[in-house]
Amino acid sequence: MSPKILGINGSLRRTGSRTLHALEIALRGAADAGAQTELLDLKQLDLPFYDDRPDVQSYPPSVFALVERVRWADGLILASPVYHGTLSGAMKNALDFLELLSNDQPPWLENKVVGLISVAGGNSGINTINSMLHTCRALRAWVLPASVVIPGTAFADDGHLQDPNIRARLAKLGSEIAKYARLFAEERRTGR
Ligand SMILES: Cc1cc2nc3c(=O)[nH]c(=O)nc-3n(C[C@H](O)[C@H](O)[C@H](O)COP(=O)(O)O)c2cc1C
Repeated sequence: MSPKILGINGSLRRTGSRTLHALEIALRGAADAGAQTELLDLKQLDLPFYDDRPDVQSYPPSVFALVERVRWADGLILASPVYHGTLSGAMKNALDFLELLSNDQPPWLENKVVGLISVAGGNSGINTINSMLHTCRALRAWVLPASVVIPGTAFADDGHLQDPNIRARLAKLGSEIAKYARLFAEERRTGR
C-alpha cells in the first residue's frame, strides 16, 4: 500500500520561498519511496487566526481544507522558515487549528509520523525544529529522530539549494516518512 504524505510549507513568502523549495525535495524523496504526496502551501489557504471559538463551523472553508488534508495523511512533513529563532507564526497557527481534530478517533496527530525541516537565513535552525517537535509531541505525533536544519549558505544566490548533502538528507527524510507512515497505516488497517 502506498502511504499518504502531506507536506506543509510554513513560509508565506509570495515568491522564491526557500522553505517551499526544500519541502518539494523532501516530498520527491517520499514519492520515490512509493508514497502518495500532497503539498499544502499555507500562503494559498489564507487562514484566519485560531481563536478557540465554540462555533467552529463559522471558520472559513480554508480551515476545513487544512483539517481534512491532515486527516487524510498518514504522515506529515512540516517545513518552517526560522523566524526570530523559532517557527513562523503561520506554521504555529496552522498547528493550533489541529485542535479541530481533538474529537477524532484517534485524536490530533496520534498514529501519524512527522518529519521536520527548518530553513534559516543564518546558521541556527535547531530551535525551530525543537519548537515544532514540542508542538507535535503535544499533538501526540511520532516525530522522526532525524530532522533537517538548512542554513542560508546552503542556497545559491538564485535561491537554488546547492548543497548536495542537504539535498540528500531531505530526500532521505522523505523516504523515512514514507517508510514509517506505511508501517503505521498498515497497523491501522489491520487493527493490530
Ligand atoms: C521575520 C523574519 C525573522 C527571521 N529570523 C531569523 C532568525 O532568527 N534566524 C535566521 O537565521 N534567519 C532568520 N530569518 C531569515 C529566514 O529564516 C530565511 O530568509 C528563510 O530562508 C526564509 O524562508 P522562505 O524563503 O521560505 O521564506 C528571518 C526572516 C524573517 C522574515
